[in-house]
Amino acid sequence: MPTDGDKEQNPFYQRDFISIDQVNGGGEIDYLFPLADELKKLVDGRESVEHLLDQYSVSILFYQSSTRTFSSFLHAAQRLGGYVTAIHGMEEYSSVSKGENLPDTIRSINRTTHADAIVLRHPDDNSGEIAARFSEKPVVSGGSGKKEHPTQALLDLYTIYASLQTMDNLKVAMVGDLLYGRTIKSLAKLLAVVGQHNHLQLVSPEELKAPRDFLAQLDGKISYEELDSLEPVLETADVIYMTRVQKEWFEKQGELDKYERLKASMTLTREMADQMKEDAIIMHPLPRQEELRYGVDENPRAKYFDQMDNGLFVRMALLVAILRENPYALMGLELDKKG
Ligand code: NCD
Repeated sequence: MPTDGDKEQNPFYQRDFISIDQVNGGGEIDYLFPLADELKKLVDGRESVEHLLDQYSVSILFYQSSTRTFSSFLHAAQRLGGYVTAIHGMEEYSSVSKGENLPDTIRSINRTTHADAIVLRHPDDNSGEIAARFSEKPVVSGGSGKKEHPTQALLDLYTIYASLQTMDNLKVAMVGDLLYGRTIKSLAKLLAVVGQHNHLQLVSPEELKAPRDFLAQLDGKISYEELDSLEPVLETADVIYMTRVQKEWFEKQGELDKYERLKASMTLTREMADQMKEDAIIMHPLPRQEELRYGVDENPRAKYFDQMDNGLFVRMALLVAILRENPYALMGLELDKKG
């Protein structure tokens, strides 16, 4: 059983998780992924995990639409036995529609739900930082503007590792809307600090290229190249990570005509997927539009439905790690001293 000394090794305990920048190296991953593995085993075996967050309160506030992130956080907190307050459609149904600002909303939810943690999805890039500043308790980002989706990056890495059994020497193609998409930004930053000798192939039309200030954060940490066509990566990539062109940001700027022109500029078809390396994988955070054809679903390389299962267990692990000082002891697990 872990000793008292192991408590210090929980890098998530009582900390916000609003940016992948909080992951400094493999240590956090080595701590979290075995917890996710164990939770999956327990849940699949229908063993109770309710004691893990029994008497803890988790509040989930979503200002943007969501299927997977919302439902998996909700189920994660409930399955772990927490008291859950979940509000989807904050902009319409909460006092945000009366002009309430984020600090007041966060302070209110802290008090009304006696929250031990708040999960927030919000359209502003800096919403995670603002919420964390005003919250008395840890804040977890479920997606912040165009900038961060750190729990998606965790579940994406978990899926890569589960599928390929390595986090090293991988060619990862990130395809589509690299300008507005937040999932690829968090995953790229994560791959830059875990694993060795990985290489990013950033594939997009000129108008959807990744922002320069974001690329500057990768410089010196991971090698990357920018391409404007999918064809050259089909036979070399270990991972093809497709993303949708983010209609809502074009809409905001009155550029729907541009969206229409770009929405199918990068498309993965059944035939293209067949050309990929035998053991390569295809990922997508979903929802999809035209960039990922339904015919690809039958390809054994398609892992986007597995990403969802993994999201539940990674989010369960993260909530337990943030709220319980020594989850390994609570779950009767040994910390692996190798890493
Ligand atoms: C993504 C998001 O919200 O950023 N969805 C998700 O969480 N799985 C991707 C997207 O909306 O395109």
